[in-house]
Amino acid sequence: MNQGDKSAGAGWNRRSFLQASSLAAAAGTLPVARGAHAAGDDAIKIALVGCGGRGRGAVVQALNNAAGANVRLVALVDAFRDRVDDTYRMVSARHPDRVDVPEERKFTGLDGYERALECDVDLVQLCGPPGFRPAQFEAAVAAGKHVFMEKPVATDAPGVRRVMAANEVAKEKGLLVAVGHHLRHEVKHVESLARIHDGAIGRVEYVRAYFNSTGVWVRNRQPDQSEMEYQVRNWYYFTWLSGDHIVEQHVHDLDIGNWILQATPVQAQGSGGRQVRIGPEYGEIFDHHTVEFTYADGSRMFSYCRHIPNCWNSFSQHAHGTGGSVHIEGHGPAELRIADQEPIRIERGPAGHQRHQNHLFAALLEGQPFNEGDFGASATMTAILGRMATYSGQVVRWQDALNSQIDLSPSRMTWDAEMPVQPGPDGLYPCAIPGVTPAV
Ligand SMILES: NC(=O)c1ccc[n+]([C@@H]2O[C@H](COP(=O)([O-])OP(=O)(O)OC[C@H]3O[C@@H](n4cnc5c(N)ncnc54)[C@H](O)[C@@H]3O)[C@@H](O)[C@H]2O)c1
Repeated sequence: MNQGDKSAGAGWNRRSFLQASSLAAAAGTLPVARGAHAAGDDAIKIALVGCGGRGRGAVVQALNNAAGANVRLVALVDAFRDRVDDTYRMVSARHPDRVDVPEERKFTGLDGYERALECDVDLVQLCGPPGFRPAQFEAAVAAGKHVFMEKPVATDAPGVRRVMAANEVAKEKGLLVAVGHHLRHEVKHVESLARIHDGAIGRVEYVRAYFNSTGVWVRNRQPDQSEMEYQVRNWYYFTWLSGDHIVEQHVHDLDIGNWILQATPVQAQGSGGRQVRIGPEYGEIFDHHTVEFTYADGSRMFSYCRHIPNCWNSFSQHAHGTGGSVHIEGHGPAELRIADQEPIRIERGPAGHQRHQNHLFAALLEGQPFNEGDFGASATMTAILGRMATYSGQVVRWQDALNSQIDLSPSRMTWDAEMPVQPGPDGLYPCAIPGVTPAV
């Protein structure tokens, strides 16, 4: 993975890139930007799937990349037309010269991504709800597109396995795969982790990981919505769509824990529930989870996430070793506390989201491999393991979790599909009950 700043695009041109790509493709070593550069146009054409808050951010960061890549937005996809229109207006206002999305490349519906993949597009950004990610990633790889996909990459174990399999195909095809773990591109994370792995704090015995916040938006039910439409609009609160907030949000911290310990856990046990966020508008997910993950060498990760207003909030990761500790703020600086020394502060530096796109497009321009699918899938699976532990109240082993056949998705992806979770007569959705709900 690229971690350093790159500005190698400066000397790049279409002809040399095509030559490099075809030589590399022949050698089977470097990425192939299929259809990337039609004659007379050196633009890298991107499509956005999922026109929400993050999708808009990812597009703008791609257009603003500091690698020197000439990026054009050429297609927009969302389940709903209003979201496509909002995003089109917003991005065109900021970058009128870099948006070329005529009516025929604005796609809607749950399968709109399939039509976007038929277009002359080099890279797709998959920024919709994670429940749709495995199918969309699989299709993007099959169509030979480079991918930036948001975390988490799935919401259940069958979805993670699909992503892992498609990622192997992406590697074989030389396609670039970026996963939205922007903390991996934050200066203070890169530096802190380098020092930890150099032994600055001795052997790491345990990690603490927090994502405690007030929570996110609610999208209220509207008259005439089918149950599928309501759930897709209010996707955060349905496990098949978001994975629950331990998967959707806390996955950032769990990924850093795995990175610090350079492993995935062998088992987890935990506790969680719904204490405050209990109305029908909050679907079925919990509002707090706390999990103890155990790794093969005996080290632990203590994880804690909560969505309840007026409580102690923290988005941070902490490593405790035999010779000191490291404390990293998600959106702030890091501090190294090494025994008998003054604490060392590492400033945050420029935001990881922009650096991430800089690194991705630099790799594309240089014809370098770039694949974040392995740690993206492991991080999502770690979070799902944690959710299995809190939903069931059992000790859950990694291998059992990864092999789980529990598929949370509806059997059909249509607006009139029967949903995996339905409201009762009082409008409330059933939720997991520790001690009763099966783990895997
Ligand atoms: N890396 C980060 O810092 C970060 C920050 C925020 C969100 N995210 C991730 O980005 C993703 C989106 O989050 P968001 O905050 O933008 O949510 P959002 O609700 O603002 O946007 C999601 C969009 O996807 C659309 N959508 C739903 N189903 C779709 C389908 N089948 N095909 C295409 N579009 C569909 C929705 O209508 C909506 O417009 C999530 O996976 C989330 O975890 C990452």
